[in-house]
Amino acid sequence: MKKIKKIGVLTSGGDAPGMNAAIRAVVRTALYFDIEVMGIRFGYKGLMEGDMVPLAMRSVSGIIQRGGTMLHTARSAEFATPEGIKKAIGVAEENGLDGLVVIGGDGSFRGAKALSEDGLPTIGVPATIDNDIGCTDYSIGFDTACNIAVEAIDRLRDTSESLNRCSVVEVMGHRAGYLALEVGAASGALAVLAPEFTCDLMPEVYDTIIKHQKTQYIVVVSEGCSTPSAEVARLIEENTGMSTRLTVLGHIQRGGAPSALDRVNATRLGFRAVDLLRKGIGNRVVGIQSDKLVDYDIQEALDMQKSIEKELYMIARIVSL
Ligand code: F6P
Repeated sequence: MKKIKKIGVLTSGGDAPGMNAAIRAVVRTALYFDIEVMGIRFGYKGLMEGDMVPLAMRSVSGIIQRGGTMLHTARSAEFATPEGIKKAIGVAEENGLDGLVVIGGDGSFRGAKALSEDGLPTIGVPATIDNDIGCTDYSIGFDTACNIAVEAIDRLRDTSESLNRCSVVEVMGHRAGYLALEVGAASGALAVLAPEFTCDLMPEVYDTIIKHQKTQYIVVVSEGCSTPSAEVARLIEENTGMSTRLTVLGHIQRGGAPSALDRVNATRLGFRAVDLLRKGIGNRVVGIQSDKLVDYDIQEALDMQKSIEKELYMIARIVSL
């Protein structure tokens, strides 16, 4: 087995709070095992361009509590082509990289698979506020994004209450409703609209507003819904007469200090990624299932379907009406 002497680390796709904690864990674990680390800037684009810097123990001091990613991130269309992969492999060879850690979402893992197949052992670390990666219960950034959205909704409740309003809140999540469901359940929303359940308001939602006349209501809408959140807000006002306002939380959900859970899990996942590489194992995605570290072949991981917690959706509905 070839001794792993030097690895690279990059972040790819949308950033997620906790990515820095994962970078820190990768760097410190590698150095602990006498493996050098190159920090690759701007994701796969940076890899193709050889945009990388050596990272030492102290290069990652004071970043565990910071949102964003010190390595920057990007989405690269060129990298997704055979030429792009070839270019990246060439740059990795020129720089003496024996392995790579890719911190990102499932789009980034497809690139990680191609690199592994072309001779650069690569490990994927799940990081996306969408939490839509099949092989893991948890991805870095999801917990922080939930907390940010819940805090924002608590604030919206105050102003909604003052004016007897309904607040419709659009959250991110790409095509998935994991973020919407968690945020809706945690904030006591009257309804959660998400692609996996329903994107349209049930008549019972209108009935509840009309019948109970509470001083404020919260409705959470996933950005992946086919019914636009502005239309949801319009329909509520039209069907209930209650003054309604829409708030799109947008990229606010991706910024700020990572939660303790995101920091701890990012640290665990970063450690496991390097531990696999140093044992000569590549082409894996690491994850956390039932609070235990796991790892899967990348294709297997990409093929895994994640199921959304239908029970939580049902419970949240029952207790909100
Ligand atoms: O995948 C993470 C995510 O924040 C999604 O929730 C959202 O749809 C998308 O990225 C936004 O991407 P961008 O930052 O390119 O606007």
